[in-house]
Amino acid sequence: MAGTTTESGHELVEVPKPELEGLERHFTPWADGLLRLRPGHWLFPGAFAETADKIYNFRWKEEDVVVAGFLKTGTTWLQEILWTMRNNPNLDHPLANTPILDRVPIIDTDMYINPKAFRSVTSNHPLKPMLDDFKRKCPDGEATRGIYIQMAGVLPEPRALKTHYPFSVLHPDLLEHTKCVYIARNPRDVVVSLHHMSRLFKYNNYSGTLEQFVDYFIDGDVVQGPYWLHVKEAWEKRNHPNLHFLFYEDLRSDVMKELRRLNEFLGTNLTSEQLANVERYTSFGEMQSRNNFTNTKRPDNPGVKKEVENREGGFFRKGVTGSWSSTLTPDMVEKIDKWTKKHLSEIPFRYN
Ligand code: A3P
Repeated sequence: MAGTTTESGHELVEVPKPELEGLERHFTPWADGLLRLRPGHWLFPGAFAETADKIYNFRWKEEDVVVAGFLKTGTTWLQEILWTMRNNPNLDHPLANTPILDRVPIIDTDMYINPKAFRSVTSNHPLKPMLDDFKRKCPDGEATRGIYIQMAGVLPEPRALKTHYPFSVLHPDLLEHTKCVYIARNPRDVVVSLHHMSRLFKYNNYSGTLEQFVDYFIDGDVVQGPYWLHVKEAWEKRNHPNLHFLFYEDLRSDVMKELRRLNEFLGTNLTSEQLANVERYTSFGEMQSRNNFTNTKRPDNPGVKKEVENREGGFFRKGVTGSWSSTLTPDMVEKIDKWTKKHLSEIPFRYN
């Protein structure tokens, strides 16, 4: 499929072997290699080619809310906030403790597990429980067409769905029909958090240094990057009435103010008491202790490296603004800031 053009107008170009081998020195290889998208220089797993047009043509509904943002910008927090505001403001919903990813699925997930892999799933194959889950939810579905996108299609309404895709990969009419909340975070903390996640999860298994990681990040060599273009595309749409653009740092510094703004944007009409419930239930401490980002019993759980988790924290690592200051060297900060100034000078990031 590489060499083709998607309905979003991107040419898919296979990452050439020498470049791929360079990346594979420090990251687990992807089963289907990697693709660059033109324009944009986006870096996606090879299986994106299988799912690009399905994602582009995904049928968003008017009552949907889309959680959007780059990796490590606070999207899981936002998932829990939006789901709780819309479904559980009195903290009595029976499904509240189920994995966040079951309640607010990520529609991008099919590009991480090539749907074609389901053709050869036998009874003790690691993908079997995932396939069974899919068949339970979509008895008439066909796994090779992408299981996550089909499961999203049958999710009870009102749906909240998450994506890390940039707007340019999604259908341009998305915002005409559907409300979307985009979260951005200062690039220094994103680098630190993404470096942690890339070492924590076995499917990334990053083995290089932090210094090298900073270079990968600013050179657009981390999957789903480049970050700057992701934020820029959303920032340019920030005045669209169906887009609510917020910063992780604002959520951290005055969550109630941001919840009130979301209450208005979503039209949820929650009372002060209900908003206080949401604030408490989605606080870092509560989310860290529930730790139900995903279901560890499912084989699609990426699998964490225990030694990293024990030493440096798990998925819910620190949950603060400014952890870069104890992690990045002055040289790294300078490099990231130069890059930020070059690409994102108009965006008022806060660092502390
Ligand atoms: P840190 O690694 O800096 O701690 P994403 O969900 O987009 O992958 O973003 C993950 C980041 O959001 C992690 O940042 C994580 O700890 C933080 N996070 C998750 N839940 C949070 C919460 N309830 N409050 C504050 N930060 C949270």
